[in-house]
Amino acid sequence: MEHYKIYERGKFLALDLGGTNFRVLLIHLGEHCFDMKSKIYAIPQNIMLGTGEALFDHIAECMANFMEEQDVFYETLPLGFTFSFPCIQEGLTKATLETWTKGFKCSDVEGHDIVQLLKDAINRRGVSCYIFLGDMVYLMAVLNDTTGTLMSCAYKKHNCRVGVIVGTGANACYVEKIENAENYNGEPGPQRMVINTEWGAFGDNGVLDMIRTEYDHEIDQYSLNPGRQVFEKMISGMYMGELVRLVLVRLVQENLLLGGIGSDILFTRGQFFTKYVSEIESEKRDEHTNCRLVLEEMGLGHANDRDCAIVRYVCESISRRAAYLTSAGVSCLLDRMNDSDVTVAVDGSVYRFHPHFHDLMMQKIGDLSPKIKFELMLSEDGSGRGAALVAAVACRTAG
Ligand code: BG6
Ligand code: GLC
Repeated sequence: MEHYKIYERGKFLALDLGGTNFRVLLIHLGEHCFDMKSKIYAIPQNIMLGTGEALFDHIAECMANFMEEQDVFYETLPLGFTFSFPCIQEGLTKATLETWTKGFKCSDVEGHDIVQLLKDAINRRGVSCYIFLGDMVYLMAVLNDTTGTLMSCAYKKHNCRVGVIVGTGANACYVEKIENAENYNGEPGPQRMVINTEWGAFGDNGVLDMIRTEYDHEIDQYSLNPGRQVFEKMISGMYMGELVRLVLVRLVQENLLLGGIGSDILFTRGQFFTKYVSEIESEKRDEHTNCRLVLEEMGLGHANDRDCAIVRYVCESISRRAAYLTSAGVSCLLDRMNDSDVTVAVDGSVYRFHPHFHDLMMQKIGDLSPKIKFELMLSEDGSGRGAALVAAVACRTAG
């Protein structure tokens, strides 16, 4: 248990869908403490690419299983749902999926309210995990992972105004003055609101074409969503390893690497995992132990020291580009908000596990926004705590 001063209290459920893992969480917010139990459930590929109904039935099944395990099956708990895809959000409990991104493409979900789809699935199973408000109105909150990340850090750091994800996908949210939020048509009152930028889609209109390489075009062409998420495809973990592989293949074909001899694994899409980039860059520049292990796993045991140095250089170029592009986005948000001292909450496997991503971002944001004091803070427990906090506030304000 951690010890903080927490104003929201109680037990909450949270769902976290859209990153590497699907997680169900039970969160206990006490006066001075925070306790979290969670379980990761697999979402098989056939479900990620199947029907929406099967996806939400699977989610409801995992929830039911988790609630039984945690002995809360018969409790009515408020739920915070982190759904990490672009949505038109019309309220805390209504979010229409615009388009799938990353590895998901389930039918009959785009254009639908995902809260309703989840409720329908829960009703099909009969899980009782909501507080009812009068006639069949469920109380819960749906939010993006960037918002969950921001909220997770904001209660420790009150100057936290930006949430960034560099994981399977890439995105950011920030706190905007309500008078600048042109599309806000909710209740009058709030001074500020969180805007999900969906910056992964930056470049979809061609504005990044001058910096896209042939490798970026190839990634796009073979993706589930060609022509979309251009910025994301240059940054995030879903594509980083594959970018490296494409460059290595080209170097081998041009006889500039590995004596011109590749392997079936090297020539197979998706077989250079993004975690390899972190492993290779984790060792000293002249040590090639990890690099050799990776290359051996790829059937490239014939690599010499020069080959290893080249492979490392390719990894460094691609990860540095990702860190700099992310920094450019963060710097724009910091300049726009123009606050003097801002904490930026960050999460995602690339930021978490890449050995230099944090330092590269610190240096580049500092160069780009020299007048703004900022800190990059890892959201240690992911976005679940943020989802629970939002659900808790929703409960409190609903009375
Ligand atoms: C997790 C958050 O820690 O990070 C998720 O809880 C988020 O909400 C995820 O989507 C992003 O990282 P990745 O690498 O799992 O996509
Ligand atoms: C994708 C999603 C976005 C999410 C990001 C990080 O870009 O569209 O909503 O925040 O991935 O998970």
